Amino acid sequence: MFITLEGIEGSGKSTQIPAIAAHLEAMGHACVVTREPGGTEIGRRIRSVLLAPENTGMDATAELMLYGADRAQHVSEVIRPALDAGKIVICDRFCDSTVAYQGAARGIASGVIERLNEIVLGGLEPDLTFLLDLPAEAGLSRAWHQIASGDRHEKETRFEMEAITFHGKVRQGYLAIARRNKERIRVIAADAPRQEVTAAIIAQLDFIFFQNC
Ligand code: TMP
Repeated sequence: MFITLEGIEGSGKSTQIPAIAAHLEAMGHACVVTREPGGTEIGRRIRSVLLAPENTGMDATAELMLYGADRAQHVSEVIRPALDAGKIVICDRFCDSTVAYQGAARGIASGVIERLNEIVLGGLEPDLTFLLDLPAEAGLSRAWHQIASGDRHEKETRFEMEAITFHGKVRQGYLAIARRNKERIRVIAADAPRQEVTAAIIAQLDFIFFQNC
């Protein structure tokens, strides 16, 4: 099973993932936790280019292709082998991030992104996606607090530095993807205390696993 978490900056994905993995492992499932960009050694190098705050002049198509390169390596080196071995893969961001950030926010045509995802994914799709949703202002303010307190890498702030209107477009992009994929995507209100968000995710997971067994 392939589970992805999505959301704007500061939506709390990285905080929630260990709780999800711990819950599934307690149920007896072997989990692989990974992320994009940077789920492989090659991907970590691509990540540093993509997120470096000094790379302000990056062309939008170049950015898209770098996310595609990271994903191609990640799918073949980490995700497919883990799924083939019967493990649950939990991934912090995946193809919906590209549709929301490079599509809805940067304005790249959806057909271009779909073609890239087709090439890179070869039919692979998440089985289940949690979209952690909150207003862009709240998410961005959380993200900058984490950067100031050292909980988040200060050398990875290229997207946090984008205007609030950019982050608003990312959020709306995500909500539009969720409306088109009601079966796969569960929208979770993320502007709540961490434990409440965890409880909401776990409740959905338990329901889905109960239905499937
Ligand atoms: P994060 O790992 O801290 O969430 O940072 C990754 C950044 O990369 C985040 O700002 C979203 C952005 N991103 C895209 O723009 N497109 C993508 O396809 C992915 C996976 C991430």
